[in-house]
Amino acid sequence: MLNRRPAPVRQQPPQSSDGLLLDVRNLKTYFHVMDGVVKAVDGVDLRLAPGSTLGIVGESGSGKSVTALTMMRLLEMPPAEVADGEIWFDGRDLLTLTDEEMRGVRGNDIAMIFQEPMTSLNPVFTVGFQIAEAVRQHQHVSKKEAWNRAIEAVRLVGMSAPERRVKQYPHELSGGMRQRVMIAMALSSNPKLLIADEPTTALDVTIQAQILELIRDLQQRTDTALMLITHDLSVVAETVQHIAVMYAGRVVETGKVDDVLLSPQHPYTQGLLSSIPGEKKRGKELSAIKGVVPNPFRMPVGCKFQPRCPFQWSRCEEEPGLIEIGGPERRSRCWLQAPEETARREAYEEAAMATVADVVG
Ligand SMILES: Nc1ncnc2c1ncn2[C@@H]1O[C@H](COP(=O)(O)OP(=O)(O)O)[C@@H](O)[C@H]1O
Ligand SMILES: [Mg+2]
Repeated sequence: MLNRRPAPVRQQPPQSSDGLLLDVRNLKTYFHVMDGVVKAVDGVDLRLAPGSTLGIVGESGSGKSVTALTMMRLLEMPPAEVADGEIWFDGRDLLTLTDEEMRGVRGNDIAMIFQEPMTSLNPVFTVGFQIAEAVRQHQHVSKKEAWNRAIEAVRLVGMSAPERRVKQYPHELSGGMRQRVMIAMALSSNPKLLIADEPTTALDVTIQAQILELIRDLQQRTDTALMLITHDLSVVAETVQHIAVMYAGRVVETGKVDDVLLSPQHPYTQGLLSSIPGEKKRGKELSAIKGVVPNPFRMPVGCKFQPRCPFQWSRCEEEPGLIEIGGPERRSRCWLQAPEETARREAYEEAAMATVADVVG
C-alpha cells in the first residue's frame, strides 16, 4: 500500500554536515533574461569548517559573486532563480528560511564586504555613526556605548587617531581606510562567517597587502570563518587554507591552497598560475589564458574549459565530474585525472611543473 503521509519537513541535512559551518550542495542559480537563461552557478559544492578559511578563485564572470549573493539571499528573484541545491549553514538550509529569519542571519551570523566600500557606506553620515548603528542593530547598548565601541572597532582595524576618524565622512577617507571601516562594521556583530568579495581589487598593491593582512589577522583572532573571493591567485596564497577554483559556474578544482598552487591538477588552474607575474618571468611576456570565458548562451558541450584548453582531446566532449585525487578534499574536474589516463596526465604534469617553477622561482 502506498504511504500517503506527506514527507516530513527537512530539518537536518540528508547526509552529515557534521563539524561543518557551511555546506553548499549542488547549488544552481539561474537568471531569466530576455535572450534566455544564464546559468551563472551550475552545480556548486562548497564546504567550510567553523573558523576556517576558503578562497574562491576564478576569472571575472565565473559565478563567484552570484554564489555569495545566493548564500546571502541578496539576489532579486526574479530574474534570479535558485533552480536547485541546498545551503546548510550552522544546521539550517538558508534557502528554506523566511525573509525575516534570513535578515537575522545576515545581521548576525554572516557578514559580507564588497570591492567598492564607497557604495556600501552612506555618504551623509560619519563613519562612527554608521559603525555605532551597526553595533546597535545587534546589541542592546546605549548610543554612548555604541559610539565607544565604534571607536574601539576603528582602533581594532588599525586606523590611527580613532577618536578623530569616527567623526569623518566616507569621502574624507582613502579607499583603503574605507575598506577598513567596512571590515569594522562587518565584524561588529561577531559573525560566524565573513564573506569578502574582491575586498582589495580596487586598492593599490601596497594597500592591498595591508588589508589582506588585516583580514587574516582579525580572522585568526576572532575565529570567524572566512570566504575570500578573488580573481587573483596571488591574493589567496597567504590568506586562506583551502581554495575552490571556479570556471563557468562550476568548481573545477579544490584542495589545500599549497597543494593547488604548487601542483595544479586542472589546466585552467595552471593557466591562472601562468598569468601571475613571477620572479623568473621578469621581462618575459605574461601568458594569459587564451580565449575568453564562454558566452552563457553558447556554453560548450562537455568540459566548459575545453575550447581554451591546450590539453583537450576527444574525451572532453563529455563533461567530467569532480575527480578525487588522493582524498575527498582534493579534486579536479578534468579527465586528465581519470586513473586510466596515465600517459596524458604525465605530459600535463610536466607542463604544470614548469609553470609552477616559473612562478615560484
Ligand atoms: N543580474 C544578472 N542578470 C543576468 N546575468 C547575471 C546577473 N548577475 C550576474 N550575471 C551573470 O552571471 C555570471 C556570473 O557572474 P558573477 O558571479 O558576477 O561572476 P564573478 O563574480 O565570478 O566575476 C556572468 O555571466 C554574469 O554576466
Ligand atoms: Mg564578482
